[in-house]
Amino acid sequence: MPSSDLKHHWNKAYDRTETNKLGWFEETCEPSMELITKCNLKKNSTLLNVGAGATYLIDELIELGFDNLIANDISESALEKIKNRLKDKVENIKFVVDDLTNSTILKYYKQVDLWHDRAVLHFFNKKEDQDAYFDLLNKIVKSKGYAIIATFNLNGALKCSGLPVYRYDEKMIIERIGKRFELIESFNHTFYNPAGDTREYVYTLFRKK
Ligand SMILES: C[S@@+](CC[C@H](N)C(=O)[O-])C[C@H]1O[C@@H](n2cnc3c(N)ncnc32)[C@H](O)[C@@H]1O
Repeated sequence: MPSSDLKHHWNKAYDRTETNKLGWFEETCEPSMELITKCNLKKNSTLLNVGAGATYLIDELIELGFDNLIANDISESALEKIKNRLKDKVENIKFVVDDLTNSTILKYYKQVDLWHDRAVLHFFNKKEDQDAYFDLLNKIVKSKGYAIIATFNLNGALKCSGLPVYRYDEKMIIERIGKRFELIESFNHTFYNPAGDTREYVYTLFRKK
């Protein structure tokens, strides 16, 4: 699907559905928070949430006192949901509408302390899109910085939001992220979506050398 069609697809998903009814909605982001806590980051660290959607992870990080957050998505409608919800608390958040597979903005960023992705990488089915994603990650995460990637695992669903997905296990992510990153931890996680169905994820935490 061309980038403009994808943007339309995701804008429509967020415009038509209340945040807490989205198939990927998490009321609390425990597996992500478990890994973020392990990074022991300073409160002024640069935390980049890619494909953030309308996630409550941003609310949880603000609550913990993190004051240098970047929320990225291809969909401006998604990021609007966060802005409308958090109102005056958004002053410490930079919102960046950018396509991770063809970045025009994030590619100029450097020295990010944490890259966090939940449920975004698996939408990139073409090798060139996966390469673009991992090139961007490699480029903007600083040395000794962290990357958290949570994606459907090999037992996961074949589609999400009506789109086909590419599933991973720990080994595949290690291969794709490359030798500059060292795996710190990984685990499988069963997510129960708002309809009560299960979605199987693999969560990985890496540190850049
Ligand atoms: C399943 S949702 C997950 C949202 C959020 N990470 C969460 O856990 O609630 C996937 C998100 O990836 C975003 N996305 C899809 N393709 C993208 C791309 N090429 N660049 C940036 N974001 C993208 C979508 O707009 C959507 O918000």
